[in-house]
Amino acid sequence: MEKTFLMVKPDGVARGLIGEIISRFENKGYTLNRLEMLTPSVEIAEAHYAEHKEKPFFGELVDFLTSGPVVAMEWEGENIIAVSRMMIGKTNPLDAQPGTIRGDLAATMSQNVIHGSDSAESAERELALWFVSEASHVS
Ligand code: PPS
Repeated sequence: MEKTFLMVKPDGVARGLIGEIISRFENKGYTLNRLEMLTPSVEIAEAHYAEHKEKPFFGELVDFLTSGPVVAMEWEGENIIAVSRMMIGKTNPLDAQPGTIRGDLAATMSQNVIHGSDSAESAERELALWFVSEASHVS
C-alpha cells in the first residue's frame, strides 16, 4: 500500500474545511494513519518548500504556511499519490476542474487549501519531515 503526505493549509483550517477535506479522502476509501495539528516553524516551512527556494514566491509561501495552524496527515491507499493529486486539482484556479478540492474550494494560486506530495520521493521526504518528533517543529 502506498502512503502520502497531505496537509490542510492555514487558509483551509481558518475556513473550517478540515472535515470536508478529510471526508473526501475517507469517502474515496483511503485510510488516515496519522494526523497532527500545529503551527509550523519557519524552519520546517523552508524545508518543506526547499525545491522552490529560487522561486520569486518562496518568501510568500513560507510566510503563508507559518501564518497559522495546519493539519499534517499521513494517508494510505492504492495509488494514493497520483489519485490524491487528481482529487486535489491543479494549482492555478483557472485550470482546477470542478469536482476537485481546489476546483470547488480554492480561488487563488497561493491560498489553495491543501498540499499533497507529488511523487513517491516527495511523500517519503515530507512524511519524514513532518512526523519526526513533535517538539522539533512546533513554534
Ligand atoms: S511549480 O513552479 O510548478 O513547481 O509550482 P507548483 O508545483 O504549481 O506550486 C508549488 C507550490 O507553490 C505555490 N505557488 C505559489 N504561491 C504563491 N504565489 C504563486 N504565484 C505560486 N505559484 C505556486 C503552490 O500553491 C504550491 O504549493 P503546494 O503546497 O506545493 O501545493
